[in-house]
Amino acid sequence: DRDAGVRVRRRVDDDEPDARAAGLLDAVDERAFVVRLERLDLRPRRATEVREKAYAPYSRYHVGAALLAEDGRIFVGANVENASYGLCQCAERSAIGSAVAAGARRILALAVVTQGEEPGTPCGMCRQVLSEFPPSFPIRCATTSGAVLDTDVASLLPHAFGPGHLGGSEST
Ligand code: THU
Repeated sequence: DRDAGVRVRRRVDDDEPDARAAGLLDAVDERAFVVRLERLDLRPRRATEVREKAYAPYSRYHVGAALLAEDGRIFVGANVENASYGLCQCAERSAIGSAVAAGARRILALAVVTQGEEPGTPCGMCRQVLSEFPPSFPIRCATTSGAVLDTDVASLLPHAFGPGHLGGSEST
């Protein structure tokens, strides 16, 4: 029921790693999608905060991302632009890099915060990178003014290319 999500949210402190988080989420599996996203907040605080660190002097489009790992830790990332425009790194991939470097590969949820009227969804390249870490997880895309779009990796990238496609026997 609705209370399950609220209970979990109260018991998991957003500010410190909490190894119990995964267990608590399992206990309310049917509500997992909502619970995981609520763990990152309706108007995701951590993604909103890190967005202010974005280095985006060219586009002036600032993006913040926060990943909830299975062990309860949250990893954040912001976009990092470059004068050689093609080298711009998205907030989502910054957050993935930070999670993987800390040993966290099981992801429960992602929050992305952008400016603008419509929430910005992960770009195509980021969708592919997110799909490298299955199973699919919920994604909340929000704007600084409070618009929210909830989705998940599988919906954003159906028929994703993955490691299973690499097994061909041809040598060329
Ligand atoms: N950007 C992200 O950080 N995430 C996305 O999913 C879309 C785009 C960044 C890249 C670039 O720094 C700026 O937004 C404008 O494209």
